Amino acid sequence: MGLNIRGRSFLTLLDFTTEEINYLLDLSAEFKRLKYAGVPHDYLKGKQIVLLFEKTSTRTRCAFEVGARDLGMGVTFLDSASSQMGKKESLEDTAKVLGRMYDGIEYRGFKQSVVEDLAKYSGVPVWNGLTDDFHPTQMLADILTVKEEFGDIKGRKLTFFGDARNNVANSLMVVCSKLGMHFCACGPKELMPKKELIKKCEAIAKETGAVLEFTDDPKVGAKNCDVLYTDIWVSMGEPEELWEKRIKLLKPYQVNQKLMKLANKDAIFMHCLPSFHDRNTTVGEEIYQKYGLESMEVSDDVFHSSKGRQFQEAENRMHTIKAVMYATLK
Ligand code: CP
Ligand code: NVA
Repeated sequence: MGLNIRGRSFLTLLDFTTEEINYLLDLSAEFKRLKYAGVPHDYLKGKQIVLLFEKTSTRTRCAFEVGARDLGMGVTFLDSASSQMGKKESLEDTAKVLGRMYDGIEYRGFKQSVVEDLAKYSGVPVWNGLTDDFHPTQMLADILTVKEEFGDIKGRKLTFFGDARNNVANSLMVVCSKLGMHFCACGPKELMPKKELIKKCEAIAKETGAVLEFTDDPKVGAKNCDVLYTDIWVSMGEPEELWEKRIKLLKPYQVNQKLMKLANKDAIFMHCLPSFHDRNTTVGEEIYQKYGLESMEVSDDVFHSSKGRQFQEAENRMHTIKAVMYATLK
């Protein structure tokens, strides 16, 4: 019968084996093929899912909505402003109600314990659409993109430049460990992943042959690197006052042409998005006015160069999220 993850929640990739992650990646590629070929795949007709967002989103919300509709499902979107969640009704009660109406629940918000509790009390599969700690659906899209580029990914070096203890960096460390890749966290010492998570990943790496590297030197991060990855310097939910401190700390880790030149010749640039690569956002313009920076975590020329894979990544969010919903609900 092969692998079966029906009924499971998707909260962190730590809960999934290498084989299960590869299964989801293969399934994602298959869904991408079906979409491109125009083959209908409404395999989950009659099912209903609900999307809970306590933080804002473009890609994740749209990927879940389009993915669910392509699979034939009905979708309800709820945010904190328009539901009772957390204010007038406890998480436990909300989860119990939603579990009686829906076949699956997506949650984006703050604490990881919230997705865990939702899964515990709802009794239906819960999918983590980003918490302060992890962003697991992003990982499938990222690795699918790396596979589309390089084919075999074992041993490939992916370096995360910047706030190396944020949700995306944590999750990259986990997925690279699971898949036997070379993960490098490159950032200031005070923004390295938590020791506890590093320990868990080191134990996984022992089994898979993955390599974990930690450095505060961007040159070391870029050396022999196949994928240069970055993310915004202040994540959702962090206070605005942090910008000044983070800019000072993270400026040396900007992915720019100079850094790209130190990497492998066929290296690519990746970013989960949204990104501050120019002044065409309110925050980008504010930062320029205050600190004189035209771009932050990535220079505009790298972002628009032939090396950039960020929009392919964004598209792959939809194919991979579809695979997660299908595999857990079928
Ligand atoms: N990458 C990502 O999660 O994007 P959104 O915040 O737009 O969902
Ligand atoms: N680290 C970012 C990721 C956004 C997709 C954040 O949490 O805001």
